[in-house]
Amino acid sequence: MKQFAGVVLAAGLGTRMRSGTAKVLHPILGLPMLTYPLAALRTLKPAKISVVTGHQGDLVEAAFNGQPDLVFARQKAMEGTADAFKTGLAALGSFCGTVLVVNGDMPLVRKETLQSLFLSHRKGASKNSLTIGTFVTDTPGSYGRILRNKQGRITGIVENKDASAQQRLIREVNGGIYLMESEVLPLLDKIRPKNAAGEYYLTDIVALAAKAGLKVEGCMVSQVDLMGVNSRRELAEAAGVLRWRTISGLMDSGVSVMHPESTFIHPGVKIGRDTIIYPNVTIEGSCRIGDGCTLFPGVRLLNATVGKDVVIKDSSLVEESKIGDGCLVGPFAHIRPGSILKSNVKVGNFVELKKTVLESGAKAMHLSYLGDASVGKDVNIGAGTITCNYDGTNKHRTAIGEAAFIGSDTQLIAPVRIGKGAYVGAGSTVTSDVPPWSLALSRTRQRNIKGWAKKKK
Ligand code: UD1
Ligand code: MG
Repeated sequence: MKQFAGVVLAAGLGTRMRSGTAKVLHPILGLPMLTYPLAALRTLKPAKISVVTGHQGDLVEAAFNGQPDLVFARQKAMEGTADAFKTGLAALGSFCGTVLVVNGDMPLVRKETLQSLFLSHRKGASKNSLTIGTFVTDTPGSYGRILRNKQGRITGIVENKDASAQQRLIREVNGGIYLMESEVLPLLDKIRPKNAAGEYYLTDIVALAAKAGLKVEGCMVSQVDLMGVNSRRELAEAAGVLRWRTISGLMDSGVSVMHPESTFIHPGVKIGRDTIIYPNVTIEGSCRIGDGCTLFPGVRLLNATVGKDVVIKDSSLVEESKIGDGCLVGPFAHIRPGSILKSNVKVGNFVELKKTVLESGAKAMHLSYLGDASVGKDVNIGAGTITCNYDGTNKHRTAIGEAAFIGSDTQLIAPVRIGKGAYVGAGSTVTSDVPPWSLALSRTRQRNIKGWAKKKK
C-alpha cells in the first residue's frame, strides 16, 4: 500500500541566528519554532513524521518527546539538506509512497499551503514526481532560485551562494517545501557537494529528476507562508505574523482587542465573546478566559483559567491559577500559582496570593500577603494582613472560617485557624487558634499621657 509520510529538516544550528540555542528551539509566542510546521503537517494526517535533529539534538528531541506520530532521526554531521533528508527517510524504514518535506525553520506554513501543494501535485492526467512550493518575490535574498528552460519547465534550483549575477535576478524562489514520490528518492545518492558551501543540497534533486525525465513542477504558494527564519530579524517578523493571525482569529470570534499591536496572545489561548482587552496585555500558555471579561492595561496571564464577567485591573499578574465568575482583581495584584478565587471574590491593589483559596464573596482589597491559606465565604481581610506561612524551614497553613473578619495590619502566624464568624482586632499578631464567633486581640492596651507632648517642647 502507498504510504504518506512527512520529513522535517531541523538539524541545522542556524548560524545566522548567532545564538547558543538551536534555531528550531527559538520560541515564537511561547512555543519552539518547530511546533508550527509540525502542526501544519499534522493536519494532512501523515502516518509518520520523521524529524531530523542534529544540533542540540537531545534538547530538540526532549522538547517534542512523547508525541507518538514523531520519529527522530539524528543527522551525524551537518552536511546539508540532502544528507538531512536521507537521514530522515532512513528512519521511516522501507518507504513507498509520497513524502512531504518541510524545512523546520518555516513557522508560518499553514495547512492551506500544504493542501494546495498536494492538489497541484496530483492534478492532471499523471501526477508529479516532484512538486516544489515556490513564490515570486522582489527580494529573493538567500532563497534558492528556480531555473526554467525556454519552454518554462523547471530544470533545477541554484542556491544564492552559487548563483551567477544573472541567476540572482530570478525572482521565482524555492520555498523549502517539497512533495516527492518514491521514484525520485534513489536520486538522492547522486547528489554531490560541489558548491560554494561544500554541502549536499537537497535542491540538487530537482535537476537530477528533471534530467531523468520525471515530472517536476512548481506550485505557487503565499510568500508569507513559506518565509524561512534564518536570523533574529526574521524571527521577529514571523512572530509578528503569527501574533496577528492569533489575534485576528479571536477578534473574528467576538473578542475586542483595542490595540492589537501591543497585545501578545499565545496560540493555545481561548477567550469568550465580548471580552475586552486593553493595550499592553499578554496572555500566555493555555489560558481559558470566559465571556464578558475586561483586562485592563498591563495585565499578564499565564496558564490561568478565568470565568465570565471578571475584571482584572491594570498591571496585575496571574500565574497558574483559577479566577471564578464575577471576580475583581487588581490593580497591581499578584496571583501566584495554585490559587483559586471562587465567584465574586475581590482581590485589590498590592495583594499577593500564593496557593491560596478564597471562597465566594471573600475580599482582600489592600496590601496583603496570603500564602498557603484557605479563606472562607464572605471573609473580609483587612488592609495589610499577612499570613506568616514560612518559619525558615517549612511552610504552614492558615485557615480562616466563613464570614470571619480580619482587622487591618494583622499577622497570622501559621499554622493557625480562625473560626467561623470570628473577629481579629486590627494590629493583632495571632499565634494561636481563634474559636468561632470570638474576638481575638493581641496588642498592648493604649494609654494616653496627658500633656506629654507639650512638656517635651
Ligand atoms: C534552503 C534551500 C533554499 C530555500 C530555503 C527556503 C537548500 C540547499 N536550500 O536554504 O533553496 O530557498 O531553504 O527557506 O536546501 N538542515 C538540516 N541539516 C543540514 C542543513 C540544514 O537539518 O545539514 C535543516 C535546517 O535546520 C533548516 C532546513 O534544513 O531547518 C533548511 O536549512 P537552511 O540552512 O535554513 O537552508 P537555507 O539556506 O534557508
Ligand atoms: Mg532556512
